[in-house]
Amino acid sequence: MNKGKAAVGNDTVTLTDNSTGRKLEMPLLSGTAGPRVIDIRALYSELDCFTFDPGFMATGSCDSKITYIDGDAGILLYRGYPIEDLAQHCDFSEIAYLLLKGELPDAGEKDRFVHDITYHTMVHEQLHNFYNGFRRDAHPMAIMCGVVGALSAFYHDSTDISDPQQRMIASYRLVAKMPTIAAWAFKYALGQPFMYPRNDLTYAEDLLHMMFATPCESYGVDPVIARAMDRILTLHADHEQNASTSTVRLAGSSGANPFACIAAGIASLWGPAHGGANEAVLNMLHEIGSVNRIPEYIAKAKDRHDPFRLMGFGHRVYKNFDPRAKIMRDTCHQVLDALGIRDEPLLELAIELERIALEDDYFVERKLYPNVDFYSGIIFRAIGIPEAMFTALFAVARTVGWVAHWNEMIEDPDQKIGRPRQLYLGPEKRKFVPIEAR
Ligand code: SDX
Repeated sequence: MNKGKAAVGNDTVTLTDNSTGRKLEMPLLSGTAGPRVIDIRALYSELDCFTFDPGFMATGSCDSKITYIDGDAGILLYRGYPIEDLAQHCDFSEIAYLLLKGELPDAGEKDRFVHDITYHTMVHEQLHNFYNGFRRDAHPMAIMCGVVGALSAFYHDSTDISDPQQRMIASYRLVAKMPTIAAWAFKYALGQPFMYPRNDLTYAEDLLHMMFATPCESYGVDPVIARAMDRILTLHADHEQNASTSTVRLAGSSGANPFACIAAGIASLWGPAHGGANEAVLNMLHEIGSVNRIPEYIAKAKDRHDPFRLMGFGHRVYKNFDPRAKIMRDTCHQVLDALGIRDEPLLELAIELERIALEDDYFVERKLYPNVDFYSGIIFRAIGIPEAMFTALFAVARTVGWVAHWNEMIEDPDQKIGRPRQLYLGPEKRKFVPIEAR
């Protein structure tokens, strides 16, 4: 193993192929925390077989120092710091610095980082033209996929992935420009003029300003809403090897430029089983409509023959409360109180739905708890953000996590192109049949 890699303990496992009697002893690698991993890299050459793990439920695709999740204990650490502490004491710029560089910044480092990110928030003026090519009712995630993928055509001077300086500039550009690109997708749908970023605002304030300000009058960002948005960005910033992050790593493993890799991550995040769930939660709450219809939908969620699932519930890793959901629920109450929204029916519905679901054996037995997406949509809606923008804002937050993992993957001396194998169930080799004989 390379220096700085997982400690290779003395533990091993031995696999015996009972059909041939051949044995293979494989190292058990231990990390800082979490389950040990079996290093199976000799498996194919020694026993002529692959592992089989659709959905990668029990597969470690890489080693990483960025984020740690304990799904059973409901623990989430960014570079070792509990998410609860970071959400309470840090702003998003500190979280972005921590994820990218591995340490929390001191005051001077933070100021320099904020300056560097701030001065990359503008986008090339010609990018305006990309928006005009979309229908006004285009989903913001469709626009995000297209515009972010196009960035490599405008910032070609930071696409040489072998150059650490260019990797850093591309990383800063992506983190800095995502709020501008997302806010302009919102403005385009409204038919309102784009608002340019402002260097005197924080990351969260600038995002809100570009979404809600107009050239016609001055716009003051509500500090409570700005703090809530900042916290939501922090809670969504990274989450280990989730589907979209794994997509970014796999795309990056071929040497694709960072802008193309992040566009791939945006596409993966869009799915309702992943980042698209926050939008799907609100659509579900609207469909349920009232507390007395909750039992009907709980029954649908439990029916194996019904594709309906309780959106915002369950998680591939968390088999306990998603720690982000708890913080999000508190933030939800704070925002609604600050906005004087007392009887938000959707929040009442969500709280009752959570109560009923958490008492139902089906959810208890399967350890299905609310996840990060269950409450975030209610906050977004209270702020005045339409459902279609929810996942785009998730993408804004997750970009720093994707970029951190992309850099970690590129800098890994063991890095190879990702190329999973398969269990082939197709036809055996057969004789070709010309069309006249078919
Ligand atoms: C995110 O990976 C990440 O880290 C993602 C994320 C991140 O920050 O990157 O955390 C963000 O994607 C959060 C998840 C958002 N998705 C949703 O809220 C959509 C609703 N949730 C489900 O689609 C589902 O829970 C998944 C996709 C999240 C997880 O799917 P799994 O791993 O297949 O679920 P499972 O294996 O734990 O399911 C076990 C059982 C199954 O039933 P049985 O076969 O045992 O009878 O629970 C059932 C599932 O059918 N189940 C649900 C359910 N989720 C799982 N039943 C009803 N409603 C649900 N929401």
